Amino acid sequence: MAYVRKEIGVGDIKRQEEYCAEVFDRITANGARPLAMVDTYGCQQNEADSEKIRGYLAEMGYGFTQDEFRADLIVVNTCAVREHAEMRVLGNVGQLNHSKKAKPGQIVAVCGCMVQQPHMAEKIRRSYPVVDMVFGPHELWRLPELMLRYLEKGKRVFETTQSDGTVAEGIPQKRDGSIKAWLSIMYGCNNFCTYCIVPYVRGRERSRRPEDIVAEARELVAAGYKEITLLGQNVNSYGKDLDTDVSFADLIAMINDIPGEFLIRFMTSHPKDATEELFRTMAECEKCAHQLHLPVQSGSDRILKAMNRHYDSEKYLQKVELARSYMPDLVLTTDIIVGFPNETEEDFEETLRLCEKVRYDAMFTFIYSKRVGTPAAEMPDPYSREDKQKHFDRLLDVANRISAEKHREYEGKTVRVLVDGETGKEQYNLSSRTNGGRLVHLKGSKELLGRFINVKITGSNTWALYGEPETED
Ligand code: 5AD
Ligand code: SF4
Repeated sequence: MAYVRKEIGVGDIKRQEEYCAEVFDRITANGARPLAMVDTYGCQQNEADSEKIRGYLAEMGYGFTQDEFRADLIVVNTCAVREHAEMRVLGNVGQLNHSKKAKPGQIVAVCGCMVQQPHMAEKIRRSYPVVDMVFGPHELWRLPELMLRYLEKGKRVFETTQSDGTVAEGIPQKRDGSIKAWLSIMYGCNNFCTYCIVPYVRGRERSRRPEDIVAEARELVAAGYKEITLLGQNVNSYGKDLDTDVSFADLIAMINDIPGEFLIRFMTSHPKDATEELFRTMAECEKCAHQLHLPVQSGSDRILKAMNRHYDSEKYLQKVELARSYMPDLVLTTDIIVGFPNETEEDFEETLRLCEKVRYDAMFTFIYSKRVGTPAAEMPDPYSREDKQKHFDRLLDVANRISAEKHREYEGKTVRVLVDGETGKEQYNLSSRTNGGRLVHLKGSKELLGRFINVKITGSNTWALYGEPETED
């Protein structure tokens, strides 16, 4: 059955604020300010969710710490995309026995994509008594209610009901930085790539209303943010579930119209839905970065079909060419999975060939990880972990070589960057990003933080560029 949009009512969010006040009364009853620690795994969407969790916790009266031995509440926001992330989460959650012993009454909550999988929620219920609360991504908007229930009853809370998902506006956010901000424009995914767990744990694609997104972008610009990254699993299908006719390109243009000096970035784009309209809009909107993360996943048509990606290598290369025809300076990055079930030597070499053709500025490479409940998990997979590792290492060598070559092309040139952080190192004390998102280390005064400046590139390697700020007249 088709998904029917479900928006959480304003009254329901108001009620959560009332629950925050009740939690506040309980946890601050002894006069001291309680502390919370939020530990985030996985993608930018999770980072954005953690900012909402912190927003709610701040309303409940929590201050924040990074030290689990000082925390009265620990929230672990988990990822399910690969097994490696899950093992790390489980290992770290198991370790919380120590902090809980040292700090009786400490509350441990585990949320996010990992616990939305029934077998994982069950594993925690059975084998991790240290965990007091478990809630999936669909329940985040009612965290205050779940907290209050736990405090009132003292019984473990498990809320991970299956859902297609909702859209909730008005949840408070406590953002991590003051220069760069995440802005979720949609949630969920409808693509069901055969290896991927995301559609099962994050529900169907649903878009926020354009007026809510633009209002949030305006607030960010007014608060001094200089870079806004629009987030969605597949931003190119933005708006398809709305009753108004707004495409992702329209949304970029609307945000571009907000007065002020700031950059618009976005991720992730599914190649099948990346349109000429999008590339044209990116080229025309002066605030939109010429940066595209366009995950190809494989260069083999046979594997792309088995992955249910709805494009072949030819179509993908055409899209890349089209995008570059609009933006010759486009910075292009990708994700690639090595060792998908039954991926042969020939399939793998096609991936290498595609990478040599495209010449990505950076590639994020992953070894296939079997996810319970996905179609790929049922596919025969005769190749060993060692075979896959060998391919992975070869691909990484190619990726690193091409990145280094592309970075070398910047040497001697002057580029405009946004200075966005301090490195803690002496020689290159500041970090910054080019319009296309490449990392540039430089030496300069802290006053430059949050400013767009010109930098002369003097050196480079696979991972970064190095430069000197040009003096401004
Ligand atoms: N195994 C390995 N990598 C995966 N990804 C998604 N699911 C899996 C999996 N089961 C990768 C894809 C995606 C990125 C976010 O994670 O490349 O684009
Ligand atoms: Fe997963 Fe594919 Fe959706 Fe991306 S587009 S989240 S890889 S199912």
